[in-house]
Amino acid sequence: MDFKQLAQKYQTPLYVYDFAHFSEQFNKLKEAFKARKSLICYAIKANSNLSVIKHFANLQSGADCVSIGEVKRALLAGVPKYKIIFSGVGKRDDEIKEALELDILMINVESQAEMQRIEEIAKSMNKEARISIRVNPNIDPKTHPYISTGLHENKFGVDIDTATRMYLQSKQSDYLNPIGIHFHIGSQLTELEPIKEASQIVADLVRKLQKVDIDIKFFDVGGGLGVQYDDEVLIQPYDYAQAILSTLSGLDVTIVMEPGRYLSANGGYFITSVLYEKQNGDRRFVIVDGAMNDLIRPSLYNAYHKIEVLSDNTQVSKANIVGPVCESGDFFAKDVEVPLTKHGDLVVIHSAGAYGFVMSSNYNTRPRPAEVGIINNQDKLIRKRETFEDLIALEKEYM
Ligand code: LLP
Repeated sequence: MDFKQLAQKYQTPLYVYDFAHFSEQFNKLKEAFKARKSLICYAIKANSNLSVIKHFANLQSGADCVSIGEVKRALLAGVPKYKIIFSGVGKRDDEIKEALELDILMINVESQAEMQRIEEIAKSMNKEARISIRVNPNIDPKTHPYISTGLHENKFGVDIDTATRMYLQSKQSDYLNPIGIHFHIGSQLTELEPIKEASQIVADLVRKLQKVDIDIKFFDVGGGLGVQYDDEVLIQPYDYAQAILSTLSGLDVTIVMEPGRYLSANGGYFITSVLYEKQNGDRRFVIVDGAMNDLIRPSLYNAYHKIEVLSDNTQVSKANIVGPVCESGDFFAKDVEVPLTKHGDLVVIHSAGAYGFVMSSNYNTRPRPAEVGIINNQDKLIRKRETFEDLIALEKEYM
């Protein structure tokens, strides 16, 4: 990818996405599950640019959404309503109502109280809500605590006993139709065993439910497949599929997946330009024009992203790569060996296609970067760079 040319054409900071990589990832995963009925519902929270969602929709992807805004994005981008699921631990009444009006595939329910709410709302609309219950299998996924979700200490889902009770209740209701079951134990998973264990626990529940005539059609294994940021040993799609399939013998279910990071992370690059170099004592800083408001993963999770410095200089030394925001947490990398730079050299941050732009903010009144897609070998602007005017538009009239 010609980062220099892209930076010249679109300025920096800039997000660039390789759509061919997105396709490759999608196809690898789909292929791994070909022995069974499966539906990939791209977790659009990872990268919800409309062109990105549309690209996955064209590959026959569905969408996993966590707000009604995401549901609307998915529909707008061409995802058919019967492939859209709505998850999330705290859905508002208006969101539930709209999801029912839009007649999407199913709502993932995360608590007893939420199920009651959904039932009441469905009743008031004289509709039947298709639901799936998120089971918390109490499995340690062995990932970063902020993105671990499958333990009882986390706020997500309900335990097996509660889930069982909820299925029995929903079966009795005229306004609820339990068609699915769901689990998601965490993100950036690199170990297969916890996924297999969770799948086994949930599949056993499906068998139990079958005996009382509750017929689960969608077995939703969530997302979470890890990607290469550094030197991780990754779960291969084939092994992932085999692990899940091995727990499903005798069950006629459609396997639903909700991958986000796996599909989009490594296709994305964040390009930023060097503003200055400076030395504070024995510490070298490379100050770039991108910042934590644009890409927050290093600051928030201490996440590692591979950094590529495009410099003509061959002299290398340790430096911190930092942004201009007034926080010491505003860094992209610490103590990395990089060449000496001059004003205008580019720094490319890899694996920025997931949880990059979507987690950006306007902190410090910084307009968000533009987004560019490389689509059929051509670069295409898929989101304009924000302007100062965009940032103040909703405030100006009240002054
Ligand atoms: N399904 C559910 C219910 C989820 O909560 C998530 C992610 C996904 C699917 C997609 O997970 P993935 O396949 O992308 O791992 N901001 C964090 C990641 C937060 C993930 C939240 N849930 C990060 O930058 O690492």
